[in-house]
Amino acid sequence: MELPFAESYRIKMVENIKKSTREEREQWIKEAKYNLFFLKSDQVFIDLLTDSGTGAMSDQQWSAMMLGDESYAGARSYYNMKNAIKEILGFDYFLPTHQGRAAENVLYSTIIKEGDVLPGNSHFDTTKGHIEFRRAVALDCTIDEAADTQLEIPFKGNVDLKKLEKALQETPREKIPCVILTVTNNTAGGQPVSMENVRGVSALCKKYNVLLQMDSARFAENAYFIKTREKGYENKTVKEIVKEMFSYADIMTMSSKKDAIVNMGGFVAFKSEELWKNCQKFCIMNEGFVTYGGMSGRDMNALAVGLDEGTEFDYLETRIKQVEYLGSKLDEYGIPYQRPAGGHAIFVDAKQVLPNVPKEEFIAQTLGIELYLEAGIRGVEVGALLADRDPVTRENRYPKLELLRLAIPRRTYTNNHMDVIAVALKNVYDRRESITKGYKIIHEEPIMRHFTVELEAIL
Ligand code: F0G
Repeated sequence: MELPFAESYRIKMVENIKKSTREEREQWIKEAKYNLFFLKSDQVFIDLLTDSGTGAMSDQQWSAMMLGDESYAGARSYYNMKNAIKEILGFDYFLPTHQGRAAENVLYSTIIKEGDVLPGNSHFDTTKGHIEFRRAVALDCTIDEAADTQLEIPFKGNVDLKKLEKALQETPREKIPCVILTVTNNTAGGQPVSMENVRGVSALCKKYNVLLQMDSARFAENAYFIKTREKGYENKTVKEIVKEMFSYADIMTMSSKKDAIVNMGGFVAFKSEELWKNCQKFCIMNEGFVTYGGMSGRDMNALAVGLDEGTEFDYLETRIKQVEYLGSKLDEYGIPYQRPAGGHAIFVDAKQVLPNVPKEEFIAQTLGIELYLEAGIRGVEVGALLADRDPVTRENRYPKLELLRLAIPRRTYTNNHMDVIAVALKNVYDRRESITKGYKIIHEEPIMRHFTVELEAIL
């Protein structure tokens, strides 16, 4: 008999989590203005708000923390991080930052000016925020297939090369500071980008002489998908694939809270010494001196170890199979989600799960609240709240997809938790006909409103 699959680690330390009653949750979510970000973590049983900074570090990472060198300049920990970035990712120059969006800030403060255009595949919300805040345009060139949740294709995060080339042709060269390739494509459902597509994007960037930036938060999960789905890569190691992916990039921004499996940290890395030097002032002003940026020495040490562990096949297989397991449970109950299962999350298709809630009443947010009420599970809306208003017309933008993202923290929950999540969703799905009303906004900020929005139930 074939042995069943099991995790490639065992558990050395546990953290207790709390269950609650539906009555308690009704009170808490009301007090939180129906914004899941405003809940206290103790009011949540299974927290799938994000896989960012919520993973469990290994014994190796914890022990590396004890060896952290906290020198202001030239710390050993900085050099540990530098060596890992060079050896695993292939970049010679980098600046540490406190997280991914800080890396974006350092980079974009240097290269973006008003009126610029940055084409890419479904820019992440802080990336879009940084671009739009500077009065530039984040131009989405993702393949159209990504919007069809039931279509099962291996690389649904890809860039549409025709759309990209059109953008590069139509925009004056000096208005394009870089093309942004996000691996995996978070917003489209944690969907990977194929190596073929990376090569295609890189070729266009070279043809039109623009830089290629990789938003690399989940680069290792992307490499795992290339290994397991793309012809010609099955016998390569994840580390070899990672090296090839980054060989096409000029710049990478990294939220280390994902695939480097640390709770805080990030960096921006460069192939060009000149660009690295140009960005240094923004690092010093906003983050810290160039050899620590926003990070303590111990955190840089843990990050260096995490980059190595995070690019090991056994770890990635355990991680991605857990997400697939949750997907297979939803299949059993007929609950539609962005197919195939993503690397870090399942994105439930809220429009199909709650067909009776009008789009103006925030369908995916309504589903998120229902799931919380059902079982104390916290997901996050990737729908009209996040899509925000058009920066020019100030009209609400209603995206094609209304998704509830259930992000799975790394090495944190067991498959029993996945079972609870699936059944809770099934219970909501079973009473979908009776859920007809959503929420209205009573307060919102002019940019990135979803984080701090206040809502009221429509009665
Ligand atoms: N790029 C991508 C693709 C991301 O998913 C994130 C963060 C960032 C950049 C910004 O990095 O959080 O370290 O500042 N994503 C988290 C999420 C927050 O929940 O998906 P950060």
